[in-house]
Amino acid sequence: MRGRIIAIASYVPETVLTNYDLEKMVATSDEWITERTGIRERRIAHDEQAASDMAYEAARLALRRASLKAKDIDLIVVASVTGDMPFPSTSCYLQRLLGAKNAAAFDINAACSGFLYGLHIVNSFIRTGSHSRILLVGTEVLSRFVNWSDRTTCVLFGDGAGAAVIEGTREKRGIYSTHIASDGNLSELITLPGGGSRYPSSTESILKKRHYMKMKGNETFKVAVRTLSDIAVKTLEANKLKPSQIALLIPHQANLRIIRATAKRLGLPDEKVFINIDKYGNTSAASIPIALDEAVKSDRVKDGDYILLEAFGGGLTWASALLRW
Ligand code: UT7
Repeated sequence: MRGRIIAIASYVPETVLTNYDLEKMVATSDEWITERTGIRERRIAHDEQAASDMAYEAARLALRRASLKAKDIDLIVVASVTGDMPFPSTSCYLQRLLGAKNAAAFDINAACSGFLYGLHIVNSFIRTGSHSRILLVGTEVLSRFVNWSDRTTCVLFGDGAGAAVIEGTREKRGIYSTHIASDGNLSELITLPGGGSRYPSSTESILKKRHYMKMKGNETFKVAVRTLSDIAVKTLEANKLKPSQIALLIPHQANLRIIRATAKRLGLPDEKVFINIDKYGNTSAASIPIALDEAVKSDRVKDGDYILLEAFGGGLTWASALLRW
């Protein structure tokens, strides 16, 4: 028995913020952002939208595609670092919005690796038989936590959500393996320091701008390329596959240069690498499910294909998964 994604869907807000818009806000240029990151535009949630609202849009579409009702779901797992509030969990808000009355619900925080950490968890639940129909969602409203006067971070992030319905199968398809890793010694590279028990909300905390995301981009970049390459190789070895047998690599969309460098180390040509960072920027835990949805919709994924997923983010955390579609 293994888990299988029987439906995937995504949602992005309508408002588009282009690199040219950012040129009017900070000392940056479309040329710098495009060359250094591959990002051309990103989506921004409207003022009333919280993480659970976007999760709801993606989740109800995923349920429709699975021909299921919300009451058929027995577990909801939400991966996010920008949840509605510290508690209750965003997954409980999502449960309420969906009316998924037969589900248990909890959140996980593994930053940009959150969806793949979630896949690892829900696949284990399916294999043990504890749950049979699971909704796994990555949803982020990063625009609320970006310092819009800090050009080193504000050009990078965007908002969105992606949802997967996962069921057990005995067929030769589904989730073949998942791999998770972290290094807490590197926790200071990407942080949102304010609002927790270390630096609770206060006037001082706000004045020190602790409620905004901070990132040491350059250091993060180097670790990302190394760890992603390592975990991708480990995933192929665990499945006794050669890189040439992978039909599509769907990487976390943080930086086009990171994506290209890891693909190159695996020897994968451009046509085997899915890229949508130009449209959405880095949507953290939503990045992989949005990309997977778009890859499926655009026929880049066919039945029986081996698909490699990989992600990297705050923690530091990194993770991968090998799917047979
Ligand atoms: O998903 C979570 C994981 N996160 C990541 O994977 C992010 C990893 N890191 C990155 O993607 C890249 O490091 C960045 C895109 C964040 C930065 O690219 P970089 O090539 O590492 O640039 P840098 O930080 O070394 O900065 C180079 C220069 C600096 O100027 P000086 O000191 O050389 O004069 C920056 O001040 O570029 C400057 N700079 C900018 N210039 C125009 C930084 N941000 C901007 C900007 N526009 N937006």
